[in-house]
Amino acid sequence: PIPEPQTTRETSFIGKMKKTNIVVFYGSQTGTAEEFANRLAKDAHRYGMKGMAADPEEYDMSELSRLTEVENSIAIFCMATYGEGDPTDNAQDFYDWLQEGDADFSGVKYTVFALGNKTYEHYNSMGKYVDKRLAELGPWLPSDPGGDFMVYLLSFIVCSHRPFDSKNPFLAAVTVNRKLNKAGDRHLMHLELDITGSKIRYESGDHVAVYPINDSVIVNRIGDLLGVDLDTVISLNNLDEESNKKHPFPCPSTYRTALTHYLDITNPPRTNVLYELAQYATEPKDQENMRKMASSSPEGKALYQSWVLDSCRNILAILEDFPSLRPPIDHLCELLPRLQARYYSIASSSKVHANSIHICAVVVEYETKTGRVNKGVATNWLKNKMPTDNGHKATVPMYIRKSQFRLPFKSTNPVIMVGPGTGIAPFMGFVQERGWLKEQGKDVGDTVLYYGCRYKKEDFLYQEELEEFEKTGVLTALNVAFSRDQAEKVYVQHLLKKNKEAVWRLVHSDNAHIYICGDARNMARDVQNAFYEIAEELGGLSRSQAVDYVKKLMTKGRYSQDVWS
Ligand code: FAD
Ligand code: 2AM
Repeated sequence: PIPEPQTTRETSFIGKMKKTNIVVFYGSQTGTAEEFANRLAKDAHRYGMKGMAADPEEYDMSELSRLTEVENSIAIFCMATYGEGDPTDNAQDFYDWLQEGDADFSGVKYTVFALGNKTYEHYNSMGKYVDKRLAELGPWLPSDPGGDFMVYLLSFIVCSHRPFDSKNPFLAAVTVNRKLNKAGDRHLMHLELDITGSKIRYESGDHVAVYPINDSVIVNRIGDLLGVDLDTVISLNNLDEESNKKHPFPCPSTYRTALTHYLDITNPPRTNVLYELAQYATEPKDQENMRKMASSSPEGKALYQSWVLDSCRNILAILEDFPSLRPPIDHLCELLPRLQARYYSIASSSKVHANSIHICAVVVEYETKTGRVNKGVATNWLKNKMPTDNGHKATVPMYIRKSQFRLPFKSTNPVIMVGPGTGIAPFMGFVQERGWLKEQGKDVGDTVLYYGCRYKKEDFLYQEELEEFEKTGVLTALNVAFSRDQAEKVYVQHLLKKNKEAVWRLVHSDNAHIYICGDARNMARDVQNAFYEIAEELGGLSRSQAVDYVKKLMTKGRYSQDVWS
């Protein structure tokens, strides 16, 4: 049994529908229908309506006949089927009541959204039943209260989805998850996400966005420190009636769900969060320090920089290090920003892998100045996503973000790809695609790769694949800089400089396209400098002319970067 924060239960949904005109009831067993209901309710605003999701178990369903009192209203039923065509536990009473059959739904507008799995014999029987009974109990008025909203709902039901995007990610099964490096204390990984049946299209160079979830250890620890039962069911209420601020997560929810799926609990909190939380520090010194860090004074800024940013303190570390700071969890949930999707450069070509998206990523883990070990949210979560987890498919909510990072329109143009470390990712897609073009009998220009890693024996990612591409001539040149295999550092830009004549010829005479991917902090700049130097030396240009030369390449789309920090 989940404790409820309210003392008296409000069973009238009509009472709650002050400015709401769509009520989405869900019959949910495992949470999917509930999630859909929340999503539908949330999406209503896009159509100029306002929705609320509601658990039929919690409300007096006989009020349905009074729905006509609410202007422009509609009831949506998101009904999952359980077991042998049975209602879900929370829809049992509603089901029984429908069966009794003395309700009057005249004039009530409704629609039913059935959720089910076709492999079951009783596919969607609950949804069908509810639809049939509602129709029998009151003539369904063919009307169009929400215009597009209804169209959208229908398409939702018929095709089972609208295009997948950030608000509606696709749950892709992980089919491959393997460690790429042969040794060393880091973990570099190759993942394959199955997009079969999703109708998702991508091009090499695009990014895949992934919604991760937070580490349960951190979530539990926050719950412990604040002394709250994380499984308490909560709803956020907008106290300001006029404010249209969206809930940061679908409600009703639990603290655990909010902290696990929706809130960013690992990035250093911004100063406004510290400012708001300061009031809850009972120790005057703690309160003063928090206020100072949130202020715009030079000392305040310096303290925030060193104590929060440089020390990589997340909200948990702050609660641990300010023992007198114990804010109410509700306020904390309201203040924390939303957990964001992480982007990955797609490491495959859709020409070769139409139904899968490959990711090449390095697991983030580092020790902070306070001696804590911080772990990257998405990469540590992905690391443990093994294709089958106790017989269940491991899935990842994802969508595609289009990019400008594209192979030349003409396959005969040479390409120079520079991608050390995980910067190799998009180039795996590019090389696959060039190989595919060759197989199609197309003329393909030189395909030159500059890759860099630490040790040949340790982290030469995709060594076998790349050497095979070189052997078959798909890769014209495979240049690898092993930075730590000798006393002095060897980086990709050193190899570019070493091959400057060939590089210059490709760029200046053969219309090569240059691509740089990976670290945005130093590598991209250093590589760009190498191109300046090559243009100076072999083109006889001054520095400013060389800079202009590269700038022109950029405007022509012949110098592209896909970099991140
Ligand atoms: P988070 O929880 O987000 O933590 C990362 C943060 O921790 C960093 O932003 C930094 O603030 C901090 N941090 C990390 N290391 C340290 C350190 N040593 N000291 C102090 N602080 C540190 N990543 C790939 O691996 N492969 C890709 O192909 C790829 N493509 C990308 C494409 C784009 C367009 C973008 C924007 C990013 C790309 N990334 C890629 C990065 C990726 O999106 C994530 O940022 C990365 O995987 C870390 O995510 P995370 O959730 O594991 O870490
Ligand atoms: P390092 O770690 O030995 O310094 C992938 O991360 C590869 O990029 C590693 O071999 C790394 O070398 C190298 N690298 C680090 N800084 C770089 C820079 N500024 N330019 C190019 N490569 C760099």
